Amino acid sequence: MRAASLTAAVVLAALAGGAGACGDDPPAPASGPPAPSELDASAGDGDVDAEPLPDAGAEPDDGYTWELPAWFPRPVVPADNPMSAVKVELGRHLFYDTRLSLNQSQSCASCHEQERAFTDGLARSVGSTGEEHPRNAMGLANVGYVSTLTWANPVLLTLEQQTVVPIFGDEPVELGMRNQEGELIARLSAEARYQVLFPRAFPGDPAPVSVGNVVKAISAFERTLVSGNSPFDRFSRGGEANAISESAKRGHSLFNSEKLECFHCHNGFNLMDSTHFEGKSAPEIRFHNTGLYNVGGLGAYPAPNRGVMEITTNGDDMGRFRAQSLRNIAVTAPYMHDGSIATLDEVLDHYAAAGRTITTGPHAGVGSQNPYKSALVIGFELTAGERADVLAFLRSLTDDEFLTAPRFANPWGKPCPLCE
Ligand code: HEC
Ligand code: HEC
Repeated sequence: MRAASLTAAVVLAALAGGAGACGDDPPAPASGPPAPSELDASAGDGDVDAEPLPDAGAEPDDGYTWELPAWFPRPVVPADNPMSAVKVELGRHLFYDTRLSLNQSQSCASCHEQERAFTDGLARSVGSTGEEHPRNAMGLANVGYVSTLTWANPVLLTLEQQTVVPIFGDEPVELGMRNQEGELIARLSAEARYQVLFPRAFPGDPAPVSVGNVVKAISAFERTLVSGNSPFDRFSRGGEANAISESAKRGHSLFNSEKLECFHCHNGFNLMDSTHFEGKSAPEIRFHNTGLYNVGGLGAYPAPNRGVMEITTNGDDMGRFRAQSLRNIAVTAPYMHDGSIATLDEVLDHYAAAGRTITTGPHAGVGSQNPYKSALVIGFELTAGERADVLAFLRSLTDDEFLTAPRFANPWGKPCPLCE
């Protein structure tokens, strides 16, 4: 709730150049997606590699060349934030810049580390002042294709809106820059590289070093974080029959089977069901309760992680979260919105049991009996061999090129031709 209203206020102030407004109502979704309570898993029907996609390839777009796998669509780019190579380079510098936190201890990359597919390895993130975030840092692979940002927020629809939250949000404090816009701009203006990059990235803007442009440049960089070169991609799209093991191939079949049902929610080119891209008629927006909790037997999830309900206050939205992409999933442990599952093996235990049972403590409850649980989380039995096969498939989604590509890495202290 707080994040949504803050986002609206600061984005409006930042992007329109006006004064910040206050208000506790979440903003109405701009393009009117259906109410989240009407959305559930039922319609997810795509095989992970069956979705027809417009062919974007690497064609130039207003002079910008996307580095996309041939079979990937192009991310949606807001009309007021067109892509350019220099803007992406500026965004990368900002993403890795600790001057974005008030005490200069953290950057975005502190919680989004490339080698972990831009997660942080913690169950719940810790902000620059030591405050614990209630949720698990999310991977940023293919984040430009995600229709609703963060774990359970149906009104956070663009990267530009989301970027404001970690910088200026204070519930919880991440970078801690609330009401410190002037300080931020002063710090950035003093940096030699920015004195070149901001005017080049925003030509014609009389005051290019601005909060709005910081947000735009970071968002442009995030749209380039494309991961589509895993062994599974080379097998399924690249014609390399031996790019994955026979075990992983069997695991792929199990993943797509009516026994496991995984593909209903983790489908399409990004192995998730809340996607948007150029050429798609409308963003797909879905949230699901997988039976992770059932506190008190009435379906409750522990606050403040009650899912979409935290925003809509609608009881039926209890425990409903966005299915995360499974790309690079082997390197993003621990799992789930609160990092409460340590390993992929235990994730399979959760689904096999049709929901997790917690026997003791304040969160005790039988998740499989959660009344709000999706009808697609039905439980199953796996032999040891089948379990190994599913895990092999999940591991085949790790894209080593993405995890190591210099174009996504920290640019500070390295040559920067575009800064000359
Ligand atoms: C203190 C750690 C921390 C910092 C610093 C941080 N993030 Fe995050 N990030 C998170 C957490 C935790 C989430 C999940 C948030 C939620 O669900 O409320 C997240 C979610 C996101 C998402 C949503 C991804 C998705 O798939 O929906 C994006 C995008 C993102 N962060 C970008 C950034 C950017 C850009 C910065 C720097 C301006 C940043 N983050 C700084 C921890 C952090
Ligand atoms: C009903 C839709 C649905 C089905 C079916 C489903 N998932 Fe999920 N999956 C989700 C949602 C929603 C989350 C996030 C849940 C949360 O954090 O509370 C998730 C989370 C995950 C995660 C952790 C992601 C992360 O980044 O932390 C993994 C791994 C995963 N699912 C694998 C699977 C596998 C394997 C199957 C099949 C056995 C499966 N899922 C079936 C919806 C689904």
